[in-house]
Amino acid sequence: METALALILLACVASSTGEYSPDIIPVPGGLSGTGITTGYWDCCKPSCSWRGNLRNTSADPVTSCAIDGDTVIDPEAMSNCGGGPSYMCTNQQPFVVNSTLAYGFTAASFTGKADYKLCCGCVLLSFIGALSHKKMLVQITNTGADLVVNQFDLAFPGAGVGINNGCISQWNAPPDGWGKRYGGVDTEAECDQLPWQLQDGCRFRFEFMESVPVPNVTFVQVECPKELVDISHCNLK
Ligand SMILES: *[C@@H]1O[C@H](CO)[C@@H](O)[C@H](O)[C@H]1NC(C)=O
Ligand SMILES: *[C@@H]1O[C@H](CO)[C@@H](O)[C@H](O)[C@H]1NC(C)=O
Ligand SMILES: *[C@@H]1O[C@H](CO)[C@@H](O)[C@H](O)[C@H]1NC(C)=O
Repeated sequence: METALALILLACVASSTGEYSPDIIPVPGGLSGTGITTGYWDCCKPSCSWRGNLRNTSADPVTSCAIDGDTVIDPEAMSNCGGGPSYMCTNQQPFVVNSTLAYGFTAASFTGKADYKLCCGCVLLSFIGALSHKKMLVQITNTGADLVVNQFDLAFPGAGVGINNGCISQWNAPPDGWGKRYGGVDTEAECDQLPWQLQDGCRFRFEFMESVPVPNVTFVQVECPKELVDISHCNLK
């Protein structure tokens, strides 16, 4: 009996390949379209970490952390990129779910300016082109005035520090960050330059993403999986 039950339960989450295959649930009437991707990891407090930027200002915002990248800090603390003590939490890095699906976090804009309305929402990105066999489900934790319409700036350590290099004060990073200020490191071996806490997320770009730079995507808004909410603590209905 117990074995049979276990097999039935397993069948619910295993795909034909036998790999973990979580349910991905589209949001009815949610956003969808085509977009572009870039990558960044600037170590700054992400903007959906401010309660005031959420659709529901009573809800918990995205966690932000103290300089160790690990200790959750008061959401009202200023960003290190504005001279305060608050940083991006180290655990907001991408991770592999199965051989064709990964989870992670992103900055996004759907309007071509700082765009908070989808803070803490999730989108399933289906890569176009060389990575068309893979998808990434990301939660929106940040935005940016420099983003264009339907741009997903994926939170990938070592993919560039962008305008604000908050990684200098946190990790003693070089003035332009690791590698190039926009684009970051070019090889997996260069990920060794990052602090050990960020190296897995850096290697992700060369392993799961197969070194394909900035693939375009189609996207559809989906419900956020528990695994991402458990990390960000932001779960807006
Ligand atoms: C990974 O999970 C997704 C979502 O459940 C599923 O569609 C896909 O087939 C899985 N990949 C493999 C290789 O099993
Ligand atoms: C806003 O968030 C609070 C705290 O999580 C929750 O109790 C409330 O129901 C939410 N309001 C709406 C309109 O979802
Ligand atoms: C990605 O989309 C942009 C904007 O539509 C386009 O200019 C660019 O050529 C596309 N890149 C690739 C590799 O298809």
